[in-house]
Amino acid sequence: MIIQKNVSLAPFNTFGMQATAKEFTVLHSIEDVQQLLAADDFKKQRVLILGGGSNVLLTKNFDGLVAKVEILGKKVIHKDDEQVVLHVGAGENWHAFVMYCVDNNWGGIENLSLIPGTVGAAPMQNIGAYGVEIKDVIDSVEAIDVHSGAMRTFSNEECRFGYRESIFKQEVKDQYIITGVTLRLTTKNHRFNSSYGAVTDTMKVLGYHEASVRAISDAVIHIRRSKLPDPAQIGNAGSFFKNPTIDAALYESLKKTYIDIPGYTAGNNMFKVPAAWLIEQCGWKGKRFNNIGVHQHQALVLVNYGGGEGEKIWELAMKIQLSVKEKFNITLHPEVNVV
Ligand code: FAD
Ligand code: EPU
Repeated sequence: MIIQKNVSLAPFNTFGMQATAKEFTVLHSIEDVQQLLAADDFKKQRVLILGGGSNVLLTKNFDGLVAKVEILGKKVIHKDDEQVVLHVGAGENWHAFVMYCVDNNWGGIENLSLIPGTVGAAPMQNIGAYGVEIKDVIDSVEAIDVHSGAMRTFSNEECRFGYRESIFKQEVKDQYIITGVTLRLTTKNHRFNSSYGAVTDTMKVLGYHEASVRAISDAVIHIRRSKLPDPAQIGNAGSFFKNPTIDAALYESLKKTYIDIPGYTAGNNMFKVPAAWLIEQCGWKGKRFNNIGVHQHQALVLVNYGGGEGEKIWELAMKIQLSVKEKFNITLHPEVNVV
């Protein structure tokens, strides 16, 4: 484990923000993690754990140590006629892992194709797309306690997954370094989720006559490429805010003024409303302010056209949040981790 000084983080965050880490290291193994935890450099300063940097907004230089997790490895620990259980290193690229599963016709994560980042960060916010969340296939999450150095295995239930939430973002925030994830996928009798109409329609457009692991993956990739900006072209971190859940009384009263307001029942007399719609109604969609802005095709995605500053993105996000609160009495909560 080598600790470098004054390292630019620009290549390590998909927003492409220029920020410098006072110290920087890459963790390739569990031994590296143990060595880091024992090092004085770790104990005396703030530490930021980084995967692929696709869900962080760096607003300033990081006056501490950034540890990038690159623990690799995929291991089948059980396989039979029905299912396969895999242990995957936290530093594996998520999409490459999904493609590996699609190639093997293992089902369960095909709807999560093309989500950037690492396997280890996926349980942090319980990544989700097109009707599937990683919680649906997680068996357990392996992590190291940064204070004691002890390895702990969190069962699916112990992870307390919710919509873009887990115990790692709440109760034990910054207390664990995730080193590996164990997932349970299907080898046959796949339970396909094509509840999003666009997935079924796109499968047909792509020439698939029935659902399969590959058909769904291809459709999801096609849809995502048409909607979301590629961070290699325009800096972004996907959805900046979570989609808010509001109570039925507020939803019904808003519906009287805004008859087109979209909403989906979320149980317990609650409705989920697309944040993108709220932001678009406030006039932000496609707006550009020097080097930053709101994406022209997806109002929920804030972008860095190049040379933008994280602080300015954060100021813009706060203005958007205020305008949505004033117009709809709905508070948007950031999904992105602001550093
Ligand atoms: P990072 O951004 O590096 O880190 C995210 C958080 O996790 C930080 O707080 C970090 O400290 C912590 N962390 C990272 N690794 C570890 C570890 N090993 N141990 C402990 N803590 C760790 N998300 C969705 O849910 N659905 C989507 O459809 C989706 N689409 C996206 C599309 C685009 C174009 C982009 C840019 C992002 C999108 N995202 C989406 C968000 C993002 O891809 C996910 O949140 C992803 O899981 C982040 O992974 P990462 O490795 O880049 O994490
Ligand atoms: N909409 C607008 N204006 C826009 C874009 C969308 O009004 O500019 C409205 C439309 O009514 C549309 C609805 O918002 O039907 C939903 O839009 P979309 O299908 O693009 O999904 P989203 O709610 O914006 C969520 C996730 C994405 C995930 C997609 C697909 C959140 C915060 N975001 O986006 O996840 O990929 O659904 O399942 O839940 C991420 O978390 O970073 C992310 C990209």
